[in-house]
Amino acid sequence: MRKKWWQKEIVYQIYPRSFKDSNNDGIGDINGITEKIPYLSKLGITMIWICPIYKSPMVDNGYDISDYDDINPEFGSLEDLDYLFETAHKYGIKIMLDLVINHTSDEHEWFKEAINNPESKYRDYYIFKEGINGNPPNNWRSIFGGSVWEKVPDEDMYYLHVFDKKQPDLNFENPELREEIYHMINGWLEKGLAGFRIDSITFLKKDQDYSSLPADGPDGLVTCKFKTRNRPGIEKFLHELKEKTFDKFDCVTVGEAPGVQYDELDEFIGENGYFSMIFDFKYADIDVESGSDWFKRTNWTTKELRNLIFNSQEALQKVGWGASFIENHDQPRAVSKFIKNTKYQNYIGASALGILYFFLRGTPFIYQGQEIGMKNFERDSIEAFNDISSIDNYERSLQEGYTEKEALNFVNLRSRDNTRTPMQWDSEENAGFSEATPWLALNDDFKTINVQDQIADSNSLLHFYEDMIHLRNDSRYSNTLIYGDFKADKETQDNIISYYRISDNENIQIIVNLSDQNEKIKLQSNDIKVLLHNYKNTKLNGTDINLRPYEALVIKLNEI
Ligand code: GLC
Ligand code: CA
Repeated sequence: MRKKWWQKEIVYQIYPRSFKDSNNDGIGDINGITEKIPYLSKLGITMIWICPIYKSPMVDNGYDISDYDDINPEFGSLEDLDYLFETAHKYGIKIMLDLVINHTSDEHEWFKEAINNPESKYRDYYIFKEGINGNPPNNWRSIFGGSVWEKVPDEDMYYLHVFDKKQPDLNFENPELREEIYHMINGWLEKGLAGFRIDSITFLKKDQDYSSLPADGPDGLVTCKFKTRNRPGIEKFLHELKEKTFDKFDCVTVGEAPGVQYDELDEFIGENGYFSMIFDFKYADIDVESGSDWFKRTNWTTKELRNLIFNSQEALQKVGWGASFIENHDQPRAVSKFIKNTKYQNYIGASALGILYFFLRGTPFIYQGQEIGMKNFERDSIEAFNDISSIDNYERSLQEGYTEKEALNFVNLRSRDNTRTPMQWDSEENAGFSEATPWLALNDDFKTINVQDQIADSNSLLHFYEDMIHLRNDSRYSNTLIYGDFKADKETQDNIISYYRISDNENIQIIVNLSDQNEKIKLQSNDIKVLLHNYKNTKLNGTDINLRPYEALVIKLNEI
């Protein structure tokens, strides 16, 4: 693969509502991000991705856009954004924004026109269908629960929403709508963005028969994925999108592309693929059978996780490049999800996970707070949740016959609010996030888990992340760690995840004991150099290493 500029980036994902509140209204904002650019620079971050900051009624915290060309007032203004760009630029940090084009808010002018004036061209910007005998057009279930169809008042017509009813889907079959979207995208790229993370992009194409399928739940509905996600015909839309926008710029595009199979990766991220890279959710979602049905929990093992990671890496390596992540704003905190023994949900567990994913072949993404080991926040009643999909999943779990206690447990384990609590900057009031009460309750562990304390402690996870970034990007091993081939080590004991990064003259091994047991691993050489380690000293015994619980290391093997 030819080298691309975005392969060597270290991306930090910002959930703007919860990052830093600069004007003390309890809501994080753009000036808050600007304030923390020096912090991110010190950490070694080279690019940030900011979740949506466009004008929005905030039903889905910005993933419901009512004006693509303006900023939501609670986040600030276009001038604030310019100032953020300028500041970030001074620190050598690039900026990616979120691009949400599968749907808008129902408060977007286009949608308002579509509803108020059925004869206007805007009606065809969305997907409207007639009801059948007073019922919705079919039995598809939306990702956030309930029918994908919402009735239009005073008409026997329904509009389609794959997500919330306040997020009507755009009709990509309409060429005029597509052109408006391309125009908007190019306008943003001309401002000097590094690129976009592209939301829910595999939902653009819907099966045009709009037919029902056999129900898959007691609600009589069936997940809309089978008819709306990565469906035949999408290639035309994605190809045109790329050609008319991204191709004109040297930008980076990261697709949120659930539903893409490994044998289709070439079309998505190959040399002429639609995107620079896509997120692969197969191992992030190991704890649930499907990303959206939280009551379908699995009893996963380290060996299964290892196989998923290896399969993903091997598939990506064949055709292109990956986006490596263990957390985002839709996932629980990684330490809470992947470290089964709560005793190790601390520096040790978090640093093991760090080593595990950070040196995979791909561009690493760090989600805000991951670098200090923030954890899930357990809530004791459903009223304490803000996230719409948590509330929906709670109700669906009850419908499936689970008790309230069980339903609450599923939501606590998986809620998107887990990663949306305010960033923990210090141990003062509201964790230094704001002087006002934050829009979403803080995790009460901020007195012990916060940035300020970890800056002061040279053995903290924060400094460990700095070390990982340094090793990957600015050390004599960078070439191998960034561009080297990935090779799985399939010979280890089941609790160990080990792989190699290999270049012409170097072989680096990443070893993680992802368990609370002592384990042994046999090396190919006893002449090694430890490059990074989450325990103090290595227990090397000839070519054997005795690994302690969640022990993880990066080593250079001197003989291949
Ligand atoms: C993506 C976003 C998620 C949002 C959904 C609908 O999955 O990551 O936060 O709710 O799309 O836009
Ligand atoms: Ca604010």
